[in-house]
Amino acid sequence: MTRRNGYMISDLTGVESLEADTIKGLSSNPKYLFSKYFYDDIGSTIFQEISKMPEYYLTRKELEIFSQQNEVITDCLLSGNQHFDLIELGSGDGSKTKILLKSILDRNISFKFIPVDISAKANQELDILLGNELPSLNLEPLTGDFFNLSEYGTEYRNSNKVIMFLGSNIGNFTLDETDLFLTKLSEFCRKGDKVLIGFDLKKSPEIIMNAYDDPHGITKRFNLNYLARLNREIGTDFNLSMFEHHTAYNPLSGYVRSYLVSNRDQIIEIGTSGEKISFSRWEPVLMELSRKFDLATIERLAFNHGFKVIKHFTDNEGWFADSLWIRK
Ligand code: TRP
Repeated sequence: MTRRNGYMISDLTGVESLEADTIKGLSSNPKYLFSKYFYDDIGSTIFQEISKMPEYYLTRKELEIFSQQNEVITDCLLSGNQHFDLIELGSGDGSKTKILLKSILDRNISFKFIPVDISAKANQELDILLGNELPSLNLEPLTGDFFNLSEYGTEYRNSNKVIMFLGSNIGNFTLDETDLFLTKLSEFCRKGDKVLIGFDLKKSPEIIMNAYDDPHGITKRFNLNYLARLNREIGTDFNLSMFEHHTAYNPLSGYVRSYLVSNRDQIIEIGTSGEKISFSRWEPVLMELSRKFDLATIERLAFNHGFKVIKHFTDNEGWFADSLWIRK
């Protein structure tokens, strides 16, 4: 295996910005926290538990798409036999990508796989897993914030690329962030480069609610781990029993919103800065947005950012779409 030591593409994952971002979010009205910080090592492990719950259909549906339509997806991703870089933003545990990597390797096409993840632990585990299962893979993991595509340097900018952004990660952006992300993605791509993006689709609100407000309490634990992380890393004094977890789905906007709601008046001190944040009783903190899309919206997004839709790959029930676009 060819491999460069995983390195940090940005210092955005450092404690300084966790603190600055936390103060920024909690001083806003309404209060919010940046969802990228869910995924510390413990958070990434809890998310793997979420993705294994029967109610959390997203991972299962996307896995179904990859396993059932693997050959067609591979056909559409590859154009000719030229060398290309396969970049995956937010790679996590790589279970879906593995299927694709195998079928590209089977076709003897020269390519490099560059998984980018904010969790160093997730990257190391992926590195070990792929090293064992696909020893001939040319692998170059990067640890960092995938929003900063421009930091990847000319090495990737000037190659033939396929960029994957799976698992409905795009649904976690606000409208402005979606626009900014797709603008950066479009600038990073050369004509003919392809992107494969996972979109969770609008469906029965009951099914969506079960996925985001599970009866096992795993999602609650995932949310509370965020506060525990702040306690560990920036010295806050959150008492986790003083916050309730709440989830709401708006079928009009397609947004699922996760909140932690303070169940009393309280003041939290951020140990590393001495900053104090006050919460009034029943004041919510917005933790995460998970947008659900329809195909017309996906097509508009592609068109508005200089891409053409090649194909939407959907599961049998039409719950999830992996949409393949080409840069015009
Ligand atoms: N962001 C992912 C999603 O939208 C993961 C996730 C599932 C999540 N449940 C959550 C994030 C609850 C925050 C809160 O599906």
